[in-house]
Amino acid sequence: MTDRYAVIGNPIEQSKSPLIHTAFAQVTGQDIEYTKVLGPVGGFAQAVDAFRSAGGRGMNVTAPFKLDAFAYATDLAPSAQMAGAVNAMKFEGDKVYAENFDGIGLVRDLVHNLGCAVQGRRVLILGAGGATRGALLPLLAQGPSEVVIVNRTVSKAQDLSALARQHQGSTVPVSGVGYGEVTGAFDVVLNATSASLTAELPPLTLSAFASGCLAYDLTYGKGLTPFLKLASQAGTTRLADGVGMLAEQAAEAFAWWRGVRPDTSAVIAKLTVPLV
Ligand code: ATR
Repeated sequence: MTDRYAVIGNPIEQSKSPLIHTAFAQVTGQDIEYTKVLGPVGGFAQAVDAFRSAGGRGMNVTAPFKLDAFAYATDLAPSAQMAGAVNAMKFEGDKVYAENFDGIGLVRDLVHNLGCAVQGRRVLILGAGGATRGALLPLLAQGPSEVVIVNRTVSKAQDLSALARQHQGSTVPVSGVGYGEVTGAFDVVLNATSASLTAELPPLTLSAFASGCLAYDLTYGKGLTPFLKLASQAGTTRLADGVGMLAEQAAEAFAWWRGVRPDTSAVIAKLTVPLV
């Protein structure tokens, strides 16, 4: 019997997840059906209950339901606990296992697809919202020399750096600062703000980009965002957006559900919007 999966969000039309998971199922020979569910705002639990009753095996979760999924889960993985949000669920009887694969997806894209070692490097993360929260522990696990979180609202960056210091099993220095306090140059600069969605530019100094650094915007499909343009003005030639992260987090969920990890290169090639 064909196993059923879906992505739930509101809106949901824009989601690339059905395309990605259907491609993964084809290349791995897995017999699954993957659809979109438009969850009513305020009606997340009922919509998921209905999907489970109809035999659904797992779901991806997108905006605005990542916190609802966190509350709905019976078993939260450490990644979901640290992120404070859930982006994948697996249903087994009464159990709802919950994960957040965004951070591991980012790290896999950086290290495996882009060949950018994080170990021993200075890493700067712009933003202190959900995206940064999800990325922090997987990044720290790579052993960077230092991680600095920079945010408009400085207290949020400081709170997040304190949380990361509590959770991490290593001793990487992590700090939270305002845009006026960014000092020195960084080997990896990650834009995890939501600024690119509205074509805004975080007020980052050009000197933050080390020569030969990688500038990475976690949004995808927006071409050369104001952040990537800034990096380019600073002389950075290694520019990337989050299309690889999107594909890698999906591959992690697929492997978790099906026990086989698909190759992501064809999906990344298909979804890539040139950075021009
Ligand atoms: P997400 O879940 O996508 O991370 P979020 O939790 O709402 O979304 O967080 C958005 C982040 O982008 C915040 O860090 C926000 O900064 P503030 O905390 O100071 O509001 C940041 N952000 C949004 N627009 C920005 C802009 N134009 N310049 C700089 N930072 C911006």
